[in-house]
Amino acid sequence: MRTRLADSLLREAASTPGFLDHSEGLRLVGAAARAARRGRGPLVEIGGYLGRSTLYLAAGIASVGGSRRLYSIDHHHGSQELQAGWPHHDPALVDPASGRMDTLGRWRRAMVASGADAVVIGVIGDSADIAHDWSTPLSLVFIDGGHAVDVCRADYEGWAPLVEEGGALIFHDVYPDPTDGGRPPYECYLDAVRSGAFVEDVEAATGSLRVLVRRTPNTADVASPPARRSVARSTAAAE
Ligand SMILES: C[S@@+](CC[C@H](N)C(=O)[O-])C[C@H]1O[C@@H](n2cnc3c(N)ncnc32)[C@H](O)[C@@H]1O
Repeated sequence: MRTRLADSLLREAASTPGFLDHSEGLRLVGAAARAARRGRGPLVEIGGYLGRSTLYLAAGIASVGGSRRLYSIDHHHGSQELQAGWPHHDPALVDPASGRMDTLGRWRRAMVASGADAVVIGVIGDSADIAHDWSTPLSLVFIDGGHAVDVCRADYEGWAPLVEEGGALIFHDVYPDPTDGGRPPYECYLDAVRSGAFVEDVEAATGSLRVLVRRTPNTADVASPPARRSVARSTAAAE
């Protein structure tokens, strides 16, 4: 079922700057709609940036109605690869007061202007810290935060155990060929598949987007550091 809000969110998403192409965005719409229809828990994205992926995910939720929410996590200071000196750096995103990148204002304006704030809640902070304190099982996790090895791995290890059975774990910037892009998202995606906890929805793959589905209820079966494991076990007990 399409709603007017979903249609306008989709149009807004397509015209919002970001790092996702439209075909990848449409896969996010489909995955979010499935999560909102079938899942029990909320949805989480890591890396809202200026709101492009947030709006695609919100469009998927809005397309099925209901009360499901998306928590969009970002510290809004930009990943390492978005800082000055890197190819994707945008000097217009530097806050003159702090001298640091700050995308929160642009992200928030995109949410309010589009009406996405009806289904989206912004969470401002470091994603690994937030994962450490998070215990609610999730119907969808979209990982598109920092791509440095330690940051990407912390996202995978922190958030993958929280995906509920049948829920989606989605990675962006998965490049099997190293000449196309960096390794960390690809390596985390491979680890998720090899863990046996997730199977790939092969038909959902497009561009560098990969969609995995949790096939086990056990949240402690994805490689995690000790601190995360205790959270993962209590999550499993709560299910
Ligand atoms: C590649 S951009 C996300 C692009 C976005 N998904 C889109 O559709 O265009 C990565 C974002 O992750 C955020 N980020 C990087 N490391 C983070 C961390 N450890 N915690 C929270 N946010 C982080 C950055 O601030 C940046 O906005």
